Amino acid sequence: AEASVTEHTILGTLRGMVESSVRERFPDYDKPIDVAECANTSLGDFQSSSAMQIFSALAKAGETSFRSPRDVADEIVAGISEREMFDSITIAGPGFINFRLSDNYIRSELFRETKSAELGPTIKRHVLVDFSSPNIAKEMHVGHLRSTIIGDTLCNVFEFCGYTTTRVNHVGDWGTQFGMLIQFMKENGISPDSSVSDLQACYKQAKQKFDVDDDFKAKSKDMVVKLQSYDPETAHMWRQICSASRAEFQTIYDRLKIRIVEKGESFYNDMIPSVLDELQSKRLIVEDAGALCIFTESDDTPVICRKSDGGFNYASTDLAAVRHRIMSEKADKIIYVTDQGQHKHFKAIFKTANEAGWGDAQVALEHVGFGVVLDEAEERCFKFLEEKGTNLTTDEIKHASKVLGVSSVKYADLQNNRLTNYTFSFDRMLDLKGNTAMYLQYSHARVATILQKSSFAGRPDQFSISHEEERLLAIQIIKFQDALLTTLQDLAPSKLCEYLYTLCSTFNNFYAECKVIGGDNEESRIYLCERTLYTMKLTFSLLGIEPLERL
Ligand code: ARG
Repeated sequence: AEASVTEHTILGTLRGMVESSVRERFPDYDKPIDVAECANTSLGDFQSSSAMQIFSALAKAGETSFRSPRDVADEIVAGISEREMFDSITIAGPGFINFRLSDNYIRSELFRETKSAELGPTIKRHVLVDFSSPNIAKEMHVGHLRSTIIGDTLCNVFEFCGYTTTRVNHVGDWGTQFGMLIQFMKENGISPDSSVSDLQACYKQAKQKFDVDDDFKAKSKDMVVKLQSYDPETAHMWRQICSASRAEFQTIYDRLKIRIVEKGESFYNDMIPSVLDELQSKRLIVEDAGALCIFTESDDTPVICRKSDGGFNYASTDLAAVRHRIMSEKADKIIYVTDQGQHKHFKAIFKTANEAGWGDAQVALEHVGFGVVLDEAEERCFKFLEEKGTNLTTDEIKHASKVLGVSSVKYADLQNNRLTNYTFSFDRMLDLKGNTAMYLQYSHARVATILQKSSFAGRPDQFSISHEEERLLAIQIIKFQDALLTTLQDLAPSKLCEYLYTLCSTFNNFYAECKVIGGDNEESRIYLCERTLYTMKLTFSLLGIEPLERL
């Protein structure tokens, strides 16, 4: 089964309770049970609207023993046994059931270390994430960077939750364009050990020549044949071109501190013919005007997976790759992080893989302004910190702005819903009050600083909740596992960002109301700060962002 908020989380526990009460009292009601976080915390912490849904289902079925949804709500509440978990369960409005957690429950959850393994078995175990995947002899563009950042975070969360991940860089290192490129470089005496920007310029010139010069075109095609038969000299040049590009990609991965393992398109080349044969015999791909095609139900234009000249292409490679990942690498779940423009391509690949009996998975993405953005982000953060004034030395400001620049760019990318396009805004980046990395970093540094000043550490013997803001902070901390699971369920790092942002703002509200050092309930408050810091650090690390201790 796919991830869902399981019994290990608060939402999961609540849903389970309401569900068993409903099943007992209303055995015919078989729709999913609704429990969600309460938007208005003065009503409760969680809320269920199921009573209204059940009431209308009963009314439809001609069952009239209940006068109103509130009566149904009464019945559900009466069936909930684990009362220690709650301070109160109340019914409001037309029949909303509001749950307010008890201090005892909050305390015991707070004392429990987050055990990632508990979350594990709810999702398939071996997750293969295909991300970043730039193309050899071309610059990495914003789509690749976005893919790199989102893919890395998804892997972090999966790994933390106990899954085995395979981080695959499906580099574009194969195809007819290499024939053209190698031919052009040979003719012009260009070293294959060139920078990516030189290679890219070469590539453009080669393409122009290819389109107008028949002799060059013929020679390029011969070169492709040589490469495909692994002619030593040609293969050597190909390898040199690849390693020049690879080195440049690696500097970007190092700078972003991202781990990924290359397994490029060339890896699957020899598997393509047999995979296409298999699919053709299963009638999943068919010949159309000389080309082999995948027809998807709703789309009229097919996806070509072998060109009419017999050449393989991007889709042929992906068919072979998906089969290999399922059949040989035994992936239980495969995630592709690319721009949304490739949606149709993947839809066709997944449909074919499914019908071939292999399995399926899907994630698609769009663009974000990035790249040169990184340098400018650092510079702007540096200026910002200098002008704002801090206790940091110039070297410390330098370090902090480096970290802030990278965090801002990463966070801007992760915080947005995967599917929306957005433009990176430097002004927003520096917004100290908004949902920005800057705000999160300041909040983190604030908690860290408070704790540096405190003489007490560890869990107090008498943990108590003396103020509503303490209570809300404690609840936000213990919602961490819920946040992890929703992130994985929706494959959306933005959910984790939302969690961290709410944690920071809940902390800041707490801190505005509750004096910590030398205040009331000091030991419990310090303990809350510790748990906050721990949870913040954990979330930062899953997002691939380095938190700052001082700002
Ligand atoms: N190299 C491709 C591109 O730049 C992305 C590859 C994504 N992964 C895949 N298995 N197709 O668009």
